[in-house]
Order: sequence, then C-alpha cells, then structure tokens
Amino acid sequence: MITYSDELKEEIRLANDIVDVISQYVTLKRSGRNFFGLCPFHKEKSPSFSVSPDRQYYHCFGCHKGGDVFNFVSEIEKISFKESLEFLAERARIPLPVDENPTFQKNQYLKDKMYKINAEATIFYHERLYKPLAKIAQNYIKQRKMDNHTLTSFKIGYSGEHHELYQHLKTQGFKDEEILATGLVHKNDRGEYIDRFRKRLMFPIMEVNGKVVAFGGRRLDDNEKTAKYINSNENLVYSKKKHLFGLNLAKQANEKKMILVEGYMDAVSLYQRGIHNVVASLGTALTEEQGRLLRKYCEQVILSYDSDGAGQEAILRGLSILENQGCDARVLQMEGAKDPDEYVLKYGSGRFQLLVDQAISLVEFKIKMLKNKYQLENAKDKIRFLKEITKILSDVENKIEREIYIDKIAKQYHISKEAIYAEVNKTSYHSASNKVLTKPIINHKVPKEEISEAVVKRENMVIYLLINHFKEAYEKIVTNITIEDLQVRENKVIFEKILESSAEESEKIIQCIANIEDAEIQSHISEILVTDYEINSVEKCIEDIIIIYNKDRLSRRKLEIIQELKNETLTPEEITKLEEELNRIIIELAKGK
Ligand code: CTP
Ligand code: MN
Repeated sequence: MITYSDELKEEIRLANDIVDVISQYVTLKRSGRNFFGLCPFHKEKSPSFSVSPDRQYYHCFGCHKGGDVFNFVSEIEKISFKESLEFLAERARIPLPVDENPTFQKNQYLKDKMYKINAEATIFYHERLYKPLAKIAQNYIKQRKMDNHTLTSFKIGYSGEHHELYQHLKTQGFKDEEILATGLVHKNDRGEYIDRFRKRLMFPIMEVNGKVVAFGGRRLDDNEKTAKYINSNENLVYSKKKHLFGLNLAKQANEKKMILVEGYMDAVSLYQRGIHNVVASLGTALTEEQGRLLRKYCEQVILSYDSDGAGQEAILRGLSILENQGCDARVLQMEGAKDPDEYVLKYGSGRFQLLVDQAISLVEFKIKMLKNKYQLENAKDKIRFLKEITKILSDVENKIEREIYIDKIAKQYHISKEAIYAEVNKTSYHSASNKVLTKPIINHKVPKEEISEAVVKRENMVIYLLINHFKEAYEKIVTNITIEDLQVRENKVIFEKILESSAEESEKIIQCIANIEDAEIQSHISEILVTDYEINSVEKCIEDIIIIYNKDRLSRRKLEIIQELKNETLTPEEITKLEEELNRIIIELAKGK
C-alpha cells in the first residue's frame, strides 16, 4: 500500500485552511481570535464549536471532538485518515504519487474489474427478480413480506436456474480470469463455467461506499439437504471479518446508535419497518475489525442476536470488543421470537424499539448470567452471588456508574445496598492497590472529572506554554516540573512526547503531538489549543506555576515523612534525618506563604 510522506502531508495541510474547509459545513462567526459555530457532530442550540485559525485546530467544548483539518474531514465525511488526505489533496489540486510496484498495479486493475463485475451482477440479479421466470422468488418475497422499496434499497435479486450470469458477463466483455476472481462463477473438472449461485434470493454485501464486494444467496425451498445460505468466498475485495451487511444504508441514518443483528433477513426486515440503523455480522461472532468499522459510525451498539443462537460467549465477546474500542455496548433482551425479523413481524417495530431502549450493559448482562447459576432463595447461594457481583462491580471505574448499578441490583435481587457497598469497597481497595503497584505511572488513569478543575487548568497551561511559548518556557518548565507532577493522563502523555521530541518551535511540536493516536488525547490537545488563557506576561505566568508545583511537591513529601515516622522499625539516625527534612520543608512552606 502506498504511504504519503510527511512533507506531502504538510503541503496538503498548508493548502487547506481549516477555517475555509470547515466553513463549507458549518456557519462560523468570528469572536476574538477564534471562530465559533454550531457543532456538526452533536445537536446543540448555542455554539460550542471553536476553530483556531492561528493553530489550525478545531475543538468542540460540548462533545469534545477536536483536531486538525484531516481529523475534521475524516470525521465529517466518515472516511479514513488516509482518505481525508486524498480528499484534501484533490480539493487543493495537489497531485498524489501512484504506486509503481507492478504487482500492486496488476492487483489494482483486477480489483477494479471485480468491483465492476459485482456491480454488473447486482443489476443482473435484481432485474431478474421481476421477470416471469422468477416466480418462485416472487412468491418467497411475498411470503417474507418484503416490499418493493426494500428490494430496491438492498438491491435484492434472484439468481436463475442455469448459468445465465456467466453468459451475461461474457457478453459484457469481461475476461474469464476476472470473472473467476470474484467467485461468482467457477470452473468444474470438465472445464465448464458454472454459476455459483443458482435459484437463490441474492443479497449483495456492500462496502460503506455502496460498492458490492460479495453476495449471500438464500435457498427458496425447504429442502434441508442444501445449505440455507451460501456466501461468496473471500477474495481480493472481500474479507468476511471486515464487512458488515447493511452498513452503507445504516450509515445514512446518521444515528449515534447502531443495532447489530446476525442475519441478512433481520437487517432487511428491521430496515423495512423504519429501523434504519441496523447492520448484520452475518452469522459469525463480531470481529475486532467489524467492531472498529462500526465504531466509526456510532457511539452505541445494541447487540440483538438470535434468542436461541449465538450463545452467551459470543455476546460477551462482542460486548467486550466494542467496550474496548470505547463504544457503549448493550444487549437487547428478546422473548417470544427467535430473531429480530420474527419479532417485528409479530409485535411491530414500536415494541422492538422499546427493547432497544431497555437494552442492558455488559455489567448487567454478566450479573444476569451469574444469577442463572445460583438459587437466590438459598442463603449460601445468595452470599456467593453477592461476592461474585462485587467482583464485576469493582471493575467499573466510574463511581457514579457504579452507584447506579448498585441501586438497580439491590432492587432487582433484593439485596441490601449497604451489603453490596461493603463488599465492593473491600474488593476495589485490593484491586486498586494492586493496580498502583503494577501499572506504570503514565498509564495510571485518574478520570479527568475526579481531578480538581484548578489542577486541570494549571496542567493544561503548562502544555499550552510549552507549545506556544517554547523559547521562554521550555528550560524553566522541564527543570522544575516533572511528569510525576502531572495528574491528567492526557497531559502526561503529551508532556512526555514533547520531552522526547527535539522540536523547538510551535509548529513542529504541534505536528509531533498530532501523531499521538488516541482520540481522548487529540480531543484534549485541541481543547488546549483553542482555549484563550489570557496570559499577559508569559514569564510571570511560568514563575507562578512553578511556585505552585514546588509547593505541591513539598506538601506531598511532608505527608510522606509523617507517614514514614510512624514506622516502628526505624533506627534513631533515620528518625533524626527524617525530622530534619521535615523541619526544612515546614520552613520552606511557611516562606512561600
Ligand atoms: N448463515 C450462513 N449459512 C448458513 C446459515 C446461516 O451463512 N447455512 C448466516 C447468514 O448470514 C444468516 C445468518 O448466518 O443470515 C443467521 O442465520 P439464521 O438466523 O439461520 O438465518 P436468518 O438470517 O434468520 O435467515 P432466515 O430468516 O431466512 O432463516
Ligand atoms: Mn430469521
């Protein structure tokens, strides 16, 4: 794959002023040094979306999205970072290099043909569906209650009885090797070309941009001897674990939430009944790649697997994949139907929507699974159950979230809240102290909201000064403030990155921290870059900050010594040394006041 050089990236960046680019999507008004407007990434009434022309950064104080011009374009156009580069190069009419590698070129050519063949086959199958010879498919469609709008939206089709597709593709001028590469046709032992899909209802599988990469074909009779579905094999353009059925349509719903189902028919059926934010993982358990793809288009995923199928393990795996990717993942609980398709047919989309709203989180799902293992009427079992749920709860880092769960569980399982709290505190105390010992400082994550605002602001200013006033600030800051002094995880990472880099001016520093691949950090950086700290004298500001850090460090050491002095195994010399140090600190601190 071709990669673009940093120089080219900079050339493209310079040619695309962020205010110009964003203005094409958002109405911006100038206020002071920055521009403001309504955030295009979340609904809001008063503008909290800010763009800095000096820094060429944007940040939304409402939803915390932020970054440079490439981030903006990939976010708003829902394309990859590389694609945003190509998009902006095109906008500025900057030519991009092409890969000269011959295998790459050959593959590109073949891929291009395969997309064309798939597109041709999609139309061919779809048109076939309306012909008299497709009676069997038309009956089946009636029986499954699919309407015409659905058929055209998903480009559903019918593959005939003979080998019409091969014939058709030949008349269109495609070569045998190109047709074979798509897997839509194969060659038998006698050298004859055979259509892979025959007498099946055809579901095209598309990429996000609507390009067809594969097909699934459902049998139209009840003959259990043939597979219910056959699907395209993996090929140059299709990888099972990377694609999601229906994503091209679901994306257009522009919802923060996506419903993930197992089957073609579940997605089609929900879509027809007005639930457009639905994609199917096609029978397999959700993969990391599918998770990442999905994450690009939503913030919350509701797993709605078949009530019998899947199995708890597949659900658990899917949930944790999504959670690890920073997605709010939930499970829909369904009774009275075996899959979402059957459910909406029986009870309607309104009731399905209710189930979506009531979907439960990973923690609740785990607890529910646990409950099935125990007889809660039995006192011993109830105690064991309590111990097990506290293990699950102590992994919930956010205190408020934990309290909500405890509340719910207490009510649902008739256990006193105090009992749960007592257990949780025990477990989290242990796990917390373990974490501190094993985790390196840089990863030790105190949630930003648990750190006082003044501290966050002060730390942010340190970063701001390093970026914007490098010459005056760098020496003073690095000799007086260390990474351990900082509390906000994002600031620690950024600080370290600046120390590591040999950059000596703002632009270079911004470039180097812009390469940190972590959405929270990027959001943090853009927030700092668009904030006006109203600094009058840079020198005075740095001095004040350093004084505070020195004081903080002394206070911390003071508490440490007081603790150490309680240790009964200390020798008299050690005690004297510590007491002397303590005195010095107390005097220092008093001087500063
Ligand atoms: N699947 C498959 N091959 C099979 C069976 C299933 O590839 N022999 C995949 C298909 O993608 C299917 C999904 O697994 O959509 C879910 O299977 P299932 O629940 O059995 O099918 P439904 O989608 O419910 O299809 P239908 O309602 O038509 O039975
Ligand atoms: Mn079904």
